Amino acid sequence: MKALITGGGRGTRLRPLTFTINKHLIPIANKPMIFYAIEKMAAVGIREVGIIVNPGETELREALGRGEQWGVELTYLEQHGGALGLAHALGTGRDFIGDEPCIFYLGDNLLVEGLGNIVKEFTSSGVHCHFNFVKVKDPQRFGVPEFASDGTLRRIIEKPENPASDLAQAGIYLYRPDVWPVLDDLRPSRRGEYEISDFNTMLIERGFKAGYSVITGWWKDTGLPQDLLEGNQLVMSDPAAFVSEILGQVDNQATVQGRVRIGTGSYIKGTSFVRGPVLIGENSVIEDSYIGPFTAIGDNVQTKGAELDHSIVLNDARIETPVRIVDSILGRNCILQSHQATRPSGHKLVVGDYSSVEL
Ligand code: G1P
Repeated sequence: MKALITGGGRGTRLRPLTFTINKHLIPIANKPMIFYAIEKMAAVGIREVGIIVNPGETELREALGRGEQWGVELTYLEQHGGALGLAHALGTGRDFIGDEPCIFYLGDNLLVEGLGNIVKEFTSSGVHCHFNFVKVKDPQRFGVPEFASDGTLRRIIEKPENPASDLAQAGIYLYRPDVWPVLDDLRPSRRGEYEISDFNTMLIERGFKAGYSVITGWWKDTGLPQDLLEGNQLVMSDPAAFVSEILGQVDNQATVQGRVRIGTGSYIKGTSFVRGPVLIGENSVIEDSYIGPFTAIGDNVQTKGAELDHSIVLNDARIETPVRIVDSILGRNCILQSHQATRPSGHKLVVGDYSSVEL
């Protein structure tokens, strides 16, 4: 079996972060999101993984390399023609997949459970395609399955106004090579995209055998900023994600409580209070600050007199405001300082395009 993982797209809903970083490299619990997807493939014994990227993409290639660290071989496949939809992305991987069965996995999906059971179910049932559904509060945001009265799958509707169920199609699709010719008959939807839901529906309508699993564990499509924060919280709550480890330095006056990992060269200084689960990368300095649960701080970050909770802080940020920061995502090199530091007082903002600020 081979795997195809999406790593392209524009990430418009995660602007301004995605102006300067590929969405799949945004860290969740201090690890680029797409790493989790590759780990999952390696864990079920898949060795050949295709990563679908935008033309000319270099960021992912630099971050992932050839895949040695996971014991897999990565092949980068450029999707040409623009953001033409997930079925188009799938088609980009067709030659790479060849005559093997495949898992098509959306690189921005986070899933707690492994893929072992899903792969076993797909392989043993002999179906042509296997989909995965998960109960959500907002099915309108996803592909939603519709079932016949005997429980068989009838079709999957992309972002329906009136969803037929509260199930969403997760970004994990398994196909046998027999289905490829159907891709040639797929036409773009009203929004101009080759929809994965339409492709799946076509397979069902043409009599291909379709199976499905319902994911009961936690799953998230990290399309929106709040999804990143929730994903970060979830991964950090898992005791297996990281263990307490202090590789840096902690001042005598400072308190470190709960599950906290402090990377090499980082320094918890002065009267700081760090209440886990918290992750702090390398060479960061936390001075006289409170760092609350579910906060993941990257490398070379400096905080002074700050209070942070349930947030993601990317590398090289500087936070020196006493205002408590919660549920926030702070990009690389951003600076938050006290509005009292310079005159006149009042909030002075240099906010990038598409930023969102709650004052
Ligand atoms: C895509 C699919 C949708 C699926 C979702 C899962 O939506 O089109 O059917 O439910 O991924 O993450 P998108 O995230 O591109 O809006």
